[in-house]
Amino acid sequence: MVIGNLTIVIKEMYKKGGRKYVFLSLAPWGCTPLFKALEPGNTGACIDGLTTIVKLHNKALFEVLPKLERELKGFKYSIADFYTFLIERINNPSKYGFKEVKIACFGTGPYRGIPSC
Ligand SMILES: *[C@@H]1O[C@H](CO)[C@@H](O)[C@H](O)[C@H]1NC(C)=O
Repeated sequence: MVIGNLTIVIKEMYKKGGRKYVFLSLAPWGCTPLFKALEPGNTGACIDGLTTIVKLHNKALFEVLPKLERELKGFKYSIADFYTFLIERINNPSKYGFKEVKIACFGTGPYRGIPSC
């Protein structure tokens, strides 16, 4: 449904002259302090169900864009793959100069995942 809605909006923008687009993939939400804090009894692991949905969305997004490029003359796009960007840093913090990637720097509750300001 989301990809269908997105396609409709892209086509409407295309009709109005839009040709160049940048898309941001969904973040690995299941591995973020916010969603880990919201899951009762979470012991710190990523939330698999959420990760599965995010990956499905990103896969569908990455598949629909080449189709639109073939269908819409002049349609150009870039993808900022936020999922890979963030999961790389979560899985290899020291490689990117981070010491702590499991706990938010502000917030309350488990993993300081609940926004408090
Ligand atoms: C998104 O798609 C669903 C299912 O086709 C539709 O019911 C809904 O109205 C759409 N939303 C928008 C904002 O177009």
